[in-house]
Amino acid sequence: MREDEDMGDLVGHVALVTGCGRMQGIGRAIALTLARAGADIAITDLVAGGVQNVAEGNEAERAAGWQGLPSLVDEIESLGRKAIALTGDVGLKRDADSMVAEAIKGFGKVDILVNNAGAPHGADRNWTWDVPEEAFDDVMRINAKGIFLMSGPFIRHLLEREAPGRIVNIASGAGKRGYPKRGAYCASKFAAIGLTQVMAEELGDRGITVNAICPGPIATARQASREGQAISSFRTPVQRLGTADDIARAVLFLAAPSADYVTGQSISIDGGLLM
Ligand SMILES: NC(=O)c1ccc[n+]([C@@H]2O[C@H](COP(=O)([O-])OP(=O)(O)OC[C@H]3O[C@@H](n4cnc5c(N)ncnc54)[C@H](O)[C@@H]3O)[C@@H](O)[C@H]2O)c1
Repeated sequence: MREDEDMGDLVGHVALVTGCGRMQGIGRAIALTLARAGADIAITDLVAGGVQNVAEGNEAERAAGWQGLPSLVDEIESLGRKAIALTGDVGLKRDADSMVAEAIKGFGKVDILVNNAGAPHGADRNWTWDVPEEAFDDVMRINAKGIFLMSGPFIRHLLEREAPGRIVNIASGAGKRGYPKRGAYCASKFAAIGLTQVMAEELGDRGITVNAICPGPIATARQASREGQAISSFRTPVQRLGTADDIARAVLFLAAPSADYVTGQSISIDGGLLM
């Protein structure tokens, strides 16, 4: 990253953001915020429209005519930036490798990776002893292994270019303390923070920073689901639910050149829920 760039100035930078298909999602807000700061963006999701959580309607998306990734491509392009939409499963090596390769092919390089994709709420939301093995494996595969699989080819690309770069992992407050009926989710988000710290140690001398954001309850479709409401009833000192933009602004801070002395951190953006 050039020394003369102002904070927030991502002109000339390329970001790859996973889990961008939902209209109210954190991924969409991150992609738009980085695009407003000047970055071109590769946006990805499992399927173009994103996947739904249990007990969640998508009435708002239907009413708005939201098409998923194609709608977000239009929004990014209307900001004057370039966008590429890619689909694939972050938890499958073949898909992760091809999404990173396609982004590099499309833009010539990638500088910033935001691992935002998260497994939908489902059968994992239960007492630990009642969670089906497949549900536990799915959450770990998408939330934890997905970071490992996406980061590998991205880091090798940076090392080949001898270029600085940024990884921002969207973890959770559930990566810092346990919550009942969140066995798989907490395990996966603790793993996300562990990977963040290890990669930060490994890459600090290469100008590559690796940080995590730990959102508290954020008003996305995930929170609109029945299980989400249980968490959103936690009282925060700020006394409101967070917004996807609250998270996106923190990602921009970490992705910007001026944050090059910040690495290995797990920053809570949660209205003071954890302190
Ligand atoms: N909303 C909150 O309160 C909250 C709190 C803490 C952390 N988070 C984290 O923020 C991130 C974004 O969540 P959100 O609230 O925007 O929810 P969301 O459900 O809108 O976003 C998750 C996205 O990940 C995608 N996805 C699911 N499985 C995938 C797979 N196998 N491969 C690729 N993409 C896949 C989904 O399609 C979706 O677009 C997640 O990692 C989540 O754990 C959210």
